[in-house]
Amino acid sequence: MAKQPLFMSISRRRAITSLGGVVLAGTALAAWRALGDGRTQSYPQAPAMPADAQVHREELVAKLRTRQLVPAPAPVTPTLSYTDGPSLLRVRKGEWLEATLANRLKEHTTIHWHGIRVPNAMDGVPYLTQPPVQPGEEFTYRFQPPDTGTFFFHPHCNTIEQLGHGLAGVLIVEGDEARPHDADLVCAYRDWRVDKNGRYTPMLTDAGASKAGTFGDFRTINDEVRPVFKVPANGDIRVRFLNLDMSRVVDLGVIGTDAWVIATDGNPLSPQKLKSWRMGPAMRADLTLRAPMKPGDRLQLVNYYAPQPIVMAEIEASGEPLNRPDFMPAELLPSSIPEPDLEGAETVQLRLSASSAPADLPPDLVLPDGSVLRYADALCLAPKTFWALNGQPWPSQSHEVLPPPLFTFQRGRTYVMELINQTPHIHPIHLHGHTFKVLSSNKGDIIPHFADTTIVAPKERVKIAFVADNPGDWMIHCHIIEHQDTGMMGIFRVV
Ligand code: C2O
Ligand code: CU
Repeated sequence: MAKQPLFMSISRRRAITSLGGVVLAGTALAAWRALGDGRTQSYPQAPAMPADAQVHREELVAKLRTRQLVPAPAPVTPTLSYTDGPSLLRVRKGEWLEATLANRLKEHTTIHWHGIRVPNAMDGVPYLTQPPVQPGEEFTYRFQPPDTGTFFFHPHCNTIEQLGHGLAGVLIVEGDEARPHDADLVCAYRDWRVDKNGRYTPMLTDAGASKAGTFGDFRTINDEVRPVFKVPANGDIRVRFLNLDMSRVVDLGVIGTDAWVIATDGNPLSPQKLKSWRMGPAMRADLTLRAPMKPGDRLQLVNYYAPQPIVMAEIEASGEPLNRPDFMPAELLPSSIPEPDLEGAETVQLRLSASSAPADLPPDLVLPDGSVLRYADALCLAPKTFWALNGQPWPSQSHEVLPPPLFTFQRGRTYVMELINQTPHIHPIHLHGHTFKVLSSNKGDIIPHFADTTIVAPKERVKIAFVADNPGDWMIHCHIIEHQDTGMMGIFRVV
């Protein structure tokens, strides 16, 4: 099932021309497509940007950029990215982000703003919330991020190939610090599936997709092996750690000093002393710590999820030590995530399982509520199915329709969702459009915290709760990308 690199030819998946009568308009606000029998269906519309909005503009040109990924004398590696340098966007809370995506890839793409509670039309899921942005086209995303924190963005179709070759960026929404730090480090972890000559190894393998995922050997922070961050000696340091890998779990720890977790997936948490923090793909943790007093002394960021702890990056004190009182971790300013109303909540279950049934759904199915299933193209469907949610795998390429929603939630109500892992593998489960509270687990103590992605271990049942306050059709899926791309993905609807 090895796939061809994206830039050698269009992906092995069928080209998208097989959809009869498809009309794709390129504007952000409205796009209509004709269904086979002449009916039309609209994509959601985003609220207009007010005339007096403070706007932060970005140009994101998705294209092939060759880089010296593996240090010389290895040859350069063709990678996909949004910008020439690191794709790191920093906006202030209150500002609107206006980001224009120009697609210079050989296949369609979109941008999903992971963890940001955007209006549905800006969520960047092709065929569900917007038309795919075809090669040569542009699409402008406009929204006002409602929450501060550490987020990221990535494509949402053929993710294994696009993200696998590098297409992702970090989005930081500033404005959550009552007491500023002396340094603010972004540490984006991922491994690259490249060999020592900078050549790609397979992104998707049957063995990986049907088990814990395929792994790369080239482990990086900000695309470098074991970088050293120089920070002011005795300074207060914020570390924004993102697990942007497609399959690896990280048990984040710090060696050399005490550190506190102050945010999970960008959401403030009353400071918790860090022992280690387990993070699946897509999860983030913000740490606060005090840099060593003596210039040249180092701390290590390590991954304990390995037989021997692996040092991912180091933090080195430099310069005249700052004159600071004893370190006290400062709490971030509170967010405005709605608190779930557990008394009035309805409970639903989401079973994570292997797929046994084939993913067949009849095309162009009219649902009992009168809505029509939407089409997708092969690039957005599963090349094979190994996994399912509540027994329903994301459809494979034999049918070009999106599946019906797994759940329909009433707007404004609180839902408790029990995530039940019936497989022998870890699954980091992610919901779009909503930030949930992780409440409890049958496996033990959980510090309740807000998140957009949470790990469910084998035999574990994790309870999460959220207010379904964002209307639209939203994705829910495992963020081990090979699992997502082979069935462990579905839709939930908020009406
Ligand atoms: Cu980060 Cu649906 O994904
Ligand atoms: Cu999974």
